[in-house]
Amino acid sequence: MIILMGADGMLGSMLASQMAARSMVFTPCTFPTYDITRPETLRPLARLHPAVIINATAYTAVDLAETEPEKAYSVNAEGVKTLALFAKEIGARLIHFSTDYVFSGQSSQGYFESDPTEPQSVYGQTKLAGEQAIRDILPVSQWIILRTAWLYGPNGKNFVQTMLTLAQQGKPLRVVNDQIGCPTYSGDLAQWTLDLLSTSAAGIYHAVNDGACSWYEFANTIFEKQNLKVTVFPVTSDAFPTVARRPAYSILNARRLSHALNCPIRKWPEALSEYLASFTLRA
Ligand SMILES: NC(=O)c1ccc[n+]([C@@H]2O[C@H](COP(=O)([O-])OP(=O)(O)OC[C@H]3O[C@@H](n4cnc5c(N)ncnc54)[C@H](OP(=O)(O)O)[C@@H]3O)[C@@H](O)[C@H]2O)c1
Repeated sequence: MIILMGADGMLGSMLASQMAARSMVFTPCTFPTYDITRPETLRPLARLHPAVIINATAYTAVDLAETEPEKAYSVNAEGVKTLALFAKEIGARLIHFSTDYVFSGQSSQGYFESDPTEPQSVYGQTKLAGEQAIRDILPVSQWIILRTAWLYGPNGKNFVQTMLTLAQQGKPLRVVNDQIGCPTYSGDLAQWTLDLLSTSAAGIYHAVNDGACSWYEFANTIFEKQNLKVTVFPVTSDAFPTVARRPAYSILNARRLSHALNCPIRKWPEALSEYLASFTLRA
């Protein structure tokens, strides 16, 4: 029996639909009935004797976190600590998600799991504090943290959705060309997560689609795949000042995940094609 926290978020809803498709027994939990910042809302779940808790909850408003750090911290750090203590008490395995924003984004090599962290934003700091809480509370055999990046998929605000919406306006677009990352499809991340459950995997894994690009390249690839004629101008990050600092070059190396799953991680353009095909069908 699996408990899925945050079952209606972008990743959570994908996990829920894939678990249902695999006929897995799980209990979907959503906010505010189940609020990870209020331990008393979790108590009733102990009666279900879950073997696994998957935590797809998070405070994900990266810029807003700079002006309301307490709120971000209460979910991403304190809330995760609460979940880790709960998992310890009931002897459940905890599967959690983190981010490339725990790194500075200065490495030109790409990041391995063991590389030093150096978050540049409040969001990154709170996510790192959540990671640390899990490491402090649970033995490593009892947790998995999947660090992902540039996530997109159904049921969530994301870059692909934004670009397709902007394209409908028929105007030229300006897109940032000096931030490099790994676009990752929530469908792939959910699949890796569920596949890992049947292995003895433990510890931190970088979980992103293979390859990397800038937001500008990502936008152009979306439009090419959708056969949309959109003029896109590359601009530097200065053109779109944001409250939170973002890593400039945050490529995560997913070799460890690939070994654990004993299969290659597919390239981001291939994963994007699958998402866009399903997107067109739903539209
Ligand atoms: N999106 C990205 O680009 C990205 C990149 C790197 C890493 N990640 C990580 O990937 C994971 C999934 O992200 P996502 O994009 O799927 O997030 P999301 O769509 O924002 O979903 C987050 C979920 O958490 C719920 N939630 C918020 N506060 C809660 C609380 N106190 N108690 C219980 N539930 C709460 C939200 O409920 P409400 O909607 O009702 O508030 C929502 O269902 C997160 O750990 C995130 O940090 C995401």
